[in-house]
Amino acid sequence: MIVAESVEDVRRGIAAPRAAGRSIALVPTMGALHEGHFSLIAAASARCDFVVVSIFVNPLQFGPGEDLSAYPRPREVDLAACEQRGVDVVFYPPAEVMYARQCLTAVHVTRLSEPMCGRDRPGHFAGVCTVVAKLLNIVQPDVAFFGAKDYQQAAIVRRMVLDLSFPVRIEVCPTVREPDGLAMSSRNAYLTDEQRRQATALIGSLRLGERMIRTQRPAPSPAAVEAAIRRHLADEAPGGEIDYVQLADPEELSDVERTDRGVVIALAVRFGRARLIDNIVVDRLPADR
Ligand code: PAJ
Repeated sequence: MIVAESVEDVRRGIAAPRAAGRSIALVPTMGALHEGHFSLIAAASARCDFVVVSIFVNPLQFGPGEDLSAYPRPREVDLAACEQRGVDVVFYPPAEVMYARQCLTAVHVTRLSEPMCGRDRPGHFAGVCTVVAKLLNIVQPDVAFFGAKDYQQAAIVRRMVLDLSFPVRIEVCPTVREPDGLAMSSRNAYLTDEQRRQATALIGSLRLGERMIRTQRPAPSPAAVEAAIRRHLADEAPGGEIDYVQLADPEELSDVERTDRGVVIALAVRFGRARLIDNIVVDRLPADR
């Protein structure tokens, strides 16, 4: 496995497989790798001949007062995990390599970046898009892999790639969960035992919303589902502070008027300094129900 710290090194590492016509995958991450990331690496290995993982805690996507300096950076553990999983190249650039001079360019996907996490974290998605655009240009993969856990991020990246004609396919892989349903996240490490226990209410409340939509006829309004989710969170996770609960169109991320024509339910809850997000997609229901 090659560990590349410079743009030249990563490009050199990929030149031979590319020249040989092998398909190249990119899995962008911020490290502190867990089973969620490993599922993307597994999907990348199954789909492509050559797998590049990038590990970079991207300062552009952290707001003032967010956890940039506290974000875990277990370099050796992450590199060993990549090696063990057959990753071909890890691109592990220091910040000076990614942003050698002040970055005056930003990629901003309008509209899709405004609701949900965009409201709570202004500038966050422009930071994500800018670094993802840069990584796509550095590696030039055939396919790039993202997780459905960050639903809005995946929708925005897909749109950026379409709008700017990046020659890459975006694959979105399902959310990997702990046995009790909590979505795996590098930020779960911030939780106390009690917060960790209460955090299972996130998926509990999403499943409650899904059940309402699937079983109640006429289908419940978005407001009724949101209210039930908020009640569930207030009861089961009193230590959490809700940033948002939103029912939205799965592609446009705009508000919906009905819940039975396909909807994503997304939420963010803060436990102390840990801000957890999760979502569930409830597909359009058959008309005959
Ligand atoms: P990070 O949070 O490290 O996540 C890297 C990738 O792993 C993202 O595509 C994310 O959706 C996916 N992922 C995280 N937890 C997951 C889970 N439980 N199940 C499935 N996939 C999961 O997301 C980022 O980094 C950054 O914003 C990045 C795209 C790398 C740009 O800096």
